[in-house]
Amino acid sequence: MNKVSLKTGHFLSVTDVTPAELQALIVYAVELKAKGWTNLLKNKILAIMFEKPSLRTRVSFEVGMKQLGGQAIYLSPAEVGLGQRESVRDVSLVLSRFVNGIACRTFAQQNVIELAKYGSIPVINALSDAEHPCQALADLLTIYEHKGQFKGLTMAYIGDGFNVANSLVIACGMTGMNFTIASPDGYTLQPDYVKTAKKYAKASGAKITLVTDPREAAQKADILYTDAWYSMGQEAEAKIRRKAFAGYQINEKLLSYARKDAIIMHDLPAHHGEEIAEGILYAPQSVAFDQAENRLHAQKAVLAGLLG
Ligand code: CP
Repeated sequence: MNKVSLKTGHFLSVTDVTPAELQALIVYAVELKAKGWTNLLKNKILAIMFEKPSLRTRVSFEVGMKQLGGQAIYLSPAEVGLGQRESVRDVSLVLSRFVNGIACRTFAQQNVIELAKYGSIPVINALSDAEHPCQALADLLTIYEHKGQFKGLTMAYIGDGFNVANSLVIACGMTGMNFTIASPDGYTLQPDYVKTAKKYAKASGAKITLVTDPREAAQKADILYTDAWYSMGQEAEAKIRRKAFAGYQINEKLLSYARKDAIIMHDLPAHHGEEIAEGILYAPQSVAFDQAENRLHAQKAVLAGLLG
């Protein structure tokens, strides 16, 4: 097994890896998944510093470090007060004296950028307002396991053009997978993410398309992907968003537009009856729980590459 070195020394964005490194991380994750427990990160410690709740990300980082022979320390928002009790710069300088890496879930991408800028250890974005690169990596691993390829496939992303979609559109552009997002007016991807994805797509041959009609996106899609209509921190907007996204649900009807062998993806947690119809998450086409498991294997590839 050859660990994959990441060009920037951090994983704050999917753009921190080259398309070749992204593909290599998937191959490495497959190998690590088959191998299980190793000693690749013996005597290494990861600080897991979260400003928001988490099930999958926290558990997969903790278990991942243990399976790699290392350890993890969880730091809650109350303990750290990132940028409030103490400046991000000082937190980064202090943690650099104690641990070998930081996985940070934060409300602001600027925080992970500053952690990486001022500290001397690798920083991993465990979800910010801009991106969820670890999720995108696990999603690619899941697609690879179920479809055996990326090039030529079409992902239809139904919903909010926010952090998860930002990382996915770039990942699709890098791997040659077509990406069509269907969002209501005012909720599509930000232009800079589209521009970045299209830059990669030019080399890979992927098509990046923005539409408003979910049926148009789902037409002949290989993958139907959705995420919650409102993210952590957007709960106050829930009523407005439920109204805006009504009609953007993955259900049997929408699935009928996709290819017969299409898979359904959701990064979880799900709001059953909102972005995904009741019961669909447990349908044979759903790979949502494979995605959840693959957080572990994909992140182990990143951890070994950055901390090893
Ligand atoms: N998908 C995801 O990031 O899940 P958690 O919020 O539970 O970590």
